[in-house]
Amino acid sequence: MSSLTAVIDLDLPGPTISRHVYGHFAEHLGRCIYGGFWVGEDSDVPNVRGIRTDVVEALRALRIPNLRWPGGCFADDYHWRDGVGPRDQRPRMVNSHWGDVVEDNSFGTHEFMDLCEMLGAEPYVNGNVGSGTVREMSEWVEYLTRADDSPMAALRRANGRDEPWQVPYFGIGNEPWGCGGNMTAEHYADLARQYATYVRNHGGNTVYKIAAGANADDYHWTEALMKVSQKLGCGCDPRGFFQGISLHYYTMTGGWVGSKGHATQFDTDDWYATMRRARKIEEIVRGHANVMDAYDPDHRIGLVVDEWGTWWDVEEGTNPGFLYQQNTLRDALVASTHFDVFHRYARRISMANIAQTVNVLQAMILTDPDTGALVLTPTYHVFEMNTGHHDASSLAVHVKGEVPTRAVEGADVPLLSMSASTKDDAALVSLSNLDADAPTTVVLDLRGREVTGFSARVLTAPTIQTHNTPDAPDAVAPVAHDGVRPHSRGLEVDLPARSYTTVRLELGA
Ligand code: AHR
Repeated sequence: MSSLTAVIDLDLPGPTISRHVYGHFAEHLGRCIYGGFWVGEDSDVPNVRGIRTDVVEALRALRIPNLRWPGGCFADDYHWRDGVGPRDQRPRMVNSHWGDVVEDNSFGTHEFMDLCEMLGAEPYVNGNVGSGTVREMSEWVEYLTRADDSPMAALRRANGRDEPWQVPYFGIGNEPWGCGGNMTAEHYADLARQYATYVRNHGGNTVYKIAAGANADDYHWTEALMKVSQKLGCGCDPRGFFQGISLHYYTMTGGWVGSKGHATQFDTDDWYATMRRARKIEEIVRGHANVMDAYDPDHRIGLVVDEWGTWWDVEEGTNPGFLYQQNTLRDALVASTHFDVFHRYARRISMANIAQTVNVLQAMILTDPDTGALVLTPTYHVFEMNTGHHDASSLAVHVKGEVPTRAVEGADVPLLSMSASTKDDAALVSLSNLDADAPTTVVLDLRGREVTGFSARVLTAPTIQTHNTPDAPDAVAPVAHDGVRPHSRGLEVDLPARSYTTVRLELGA
């Protein structure tokens, strides 16, 4: 068993880790909205105004800061007026990206805003650039946020909602390099300025506008947007055209063509290949941050990783267009290592949204379409274990000694990932041991403040493939960890093989 030391200066808080990096994403895709969040008021599944009670309760424990909707690729096919007014009169459409199914628009703007209020989450509405007009986008924002008797505010009232909503986040299209219109970076950059111009701040609602950003390591895309993000030479609007630029990065062992890898049937080599791909997020974030630093050294524009997570082959027997996949301990460690990167780049990353919340890709919750049974995934537990990082100040973690590595596909993949933060006389240290078979021990060399108490939790499982099902809902669930001991330098922490551990510190002076 190897041992190394992690030095943490508890009295040197860094930038704030926005709680919004723990954001979520709900698309009209497969059973995410329909069956996942929305069952309709007449369903036997307990619901409030059509929204599943058990899903809301489970997600409230995660303190979801924001929810992105309605897509994804769906956003650039979506016309918001189809989703308001009496449900039985709403027009239908074909969801051509996801399963080629007919969408009846029963879940629309009012239902989404109701969901956000139930969750206590801030809405992140994604507008349509690919097939929508500037006027359509502008009127949606007016409909959502305007208080007086403007035409769209009056329409909202006629549809049953008097008060405007607050919509702090608005996306200017999605993946314009692909499903959102197959545009070049330069063409989209111009459109982003145009559309963003008409996304107005009504009354007290100030919109953080997010331009649709790059696929993975397409740094050119980010540069094209950074070049046009500001009104150069004009001091009249220091906020610029948009305040965020998004980034999408998915983890898979295969490629976009052919198999992406199996969600539950994989071996140790696949495990390490996954960790290599997951850890690539750090290189990609660094690359985009470097481009942004060159144009925006004051970090006024945020990097918004509004789609990330694992993407495996769909579960056998399910609609290939519905992207339903199981979720194992492996997915949990992909999540924990992503969060370490988001914490380290807190100065630049303003938001992130895992794809997606329920029943799609790396979900928090899986629901059974026949019985309605709900399962919390291993990924859910990482989000819950990390709530202490929300809006905390990041702390640098300096490693003394050699982090064990594993050679994978020509690269040495570090098998330990860590991050830390502090808030309110407490600190939270996250430690992921990515070694599938070997435990390890880490000494936390804690400096600068007195540690007056500690507790720890660990998430692990008998095998790398272990996952939760209705019959075994807690096969992967966090438990109190007793493998933490006082040490002359701070604490000594045992990390089981294939595990995620959080250590909470109580701090004195
Ligand atoms: O999350 C699933 C899809 O992945 C989204 O709709 C799209 O933006 C991305 O390609």
